[in-house]
Amino acid sequence: MSTTKGLEGIVATESSISSIIDDQLTYAGYTIDDLAENSSFEEVIFLLWNKRLPNKEELDRLSEDLFSKMELPEEIIQHLKSYDLNTVHPMAALRTAVSMLGLLDSEADEMDEEANKRKAISLQAKISSIVAAFSRIREGNEAVSPKQGLSYAANFLYMLNGKEPEDLEIEAVNKALVLHADHELNASTFTARVCVATLSDVYSGITSAISALKGPLHGGANERVMKMLTEIGEVDHAIPYIEKKLQNKEKIMGMGHRVYRNGDPRAKHLKKMSRELTELTGQSKWYDMSVKIEDYIKENKGLPANVDFYSASVYHSLGIDHDLFTPIFAVSRVSGWLAHILEQYENNRLIRPRAEYVGPKHQTYKSIEDR
Ligand SMILES: CC(C)(COP(=O)(O)OP(=O)(O)OC[C@H]1O[C@@H](n2cnc3c(N)ncnc32)[C@H](O)[C@@H]1OP(=O)(O)O)[C@@H](O)C(=O)NCCC(=O)NCCS
Repeated sequence: MSTTKGLEGIVATESSISSIIDDQLTYAGYTIDDLAENSSFEEVIFLLWNKRLPNKEELDRLSEDLFSKMELPEEIIQHLKSYDLNTVHPMAALRTAVSMLGLLDSEADEMDEEANKRKAISLQAKISSIVAAFSRIREGNEAVSPKQGLSYAANFLYMLNGKEPEDLEIEAVNKALVLHADHELNASTFTARVCVATLSDVYSGITSAISALKGPLHGGANERVMKMLTEIGEVDHAIPYIEKKLQNKEKIMGMGHRVYRNGDPRAKHLKKMSRELTELTGQSKWYDMSVKIEDYIKENKGLPANVDFYSASVYHSLGIDHDLFTPIFAVSRVSGWLAHILEQYENNRLIRPRAEYVGPKHQTYKSIEDR
């Protein structure tokens, strides 16, 4: 048996949801550039779940269905209030709350397609409500109910801030949600597929996926990018800081990618948004600092910026708490996870690879007195 560390380059499944070919990302055949410029997040959800864009009636129905499921059960609100709000990370809160949604759903273990689609709508709807509610509760505020007539992105900001967002904010969040929605067989999506391939339920699949996204080598990188920028503080300090990190063999968060070699096609959209938003809010130094780091790492390590790098300064300039960056990634990526879970159920086989054994051999049991 031979092994491939980190399963690099291994093709583990067929999928018709998204593809990365020649450093280009597509969702069901539409390029990410096209979608980022033109589509709403709701359209992307429909696209990922149905492999085609919705007509007006289908889009309206999906938007209404999502809105009708956004309100959180009181048990979830009470549970969020019971956490140690000074120490609990919102990703841990989200993971636990999503798992709890499964406890509260009498259909959780129903495996028919219609029941699973209902769960998909409910989870997609509630995940943004959970992130917003947790943020408000820890600030000593009450959770805000969603408002009819607002888009998914607008409702998220409304529930988060308790006031209707500006068009520019809605546009930025919508675009970020579109860009993060799916990404072929990334670590959290693979986790979700492995989980449900045992015929475990949708809630378990999403809870597992959130757990995988939380890690700093995956979705957790965006929060750490902002931590790094904050530590650097001033544009002129960026290069000495990065040089020191590299000397210490530390990784620069938001840089590098397992699949993309010449650049992450999502990064340029976030870079443009970062430039515009930081300029508009008088915080250009975060953008300038980011560009310096990106150029330096590209030149010295040959590594491109990934999706997390510029999303950090985008969310920061929208006034979003840094530890909510990864939960927002989850709010978007749950659309892709759900698409993959439904696809896995459609044509399931248990995912069970092998390990090459390299441990001790030919051992003989000794009684505890003889050890
Ligand atoms: C994304 C990532 C996990 C991909 O990792 P991978 O394909 O397993 O690549 P490796 O970790 O094996 O790295 C290969 C080489 O590039 C270097 N490298 C990769 N990413 C690096 C980074 N962000 N900063 C500095 N060096 C990096 C490694 O140190 C290694 O160098 P070496 O061969 O001299 O030891 C990795 O690039 C990383 O950790 N990036 C930072 C975290 C991040 O932004 N994650 C979000 C991904 S969307």
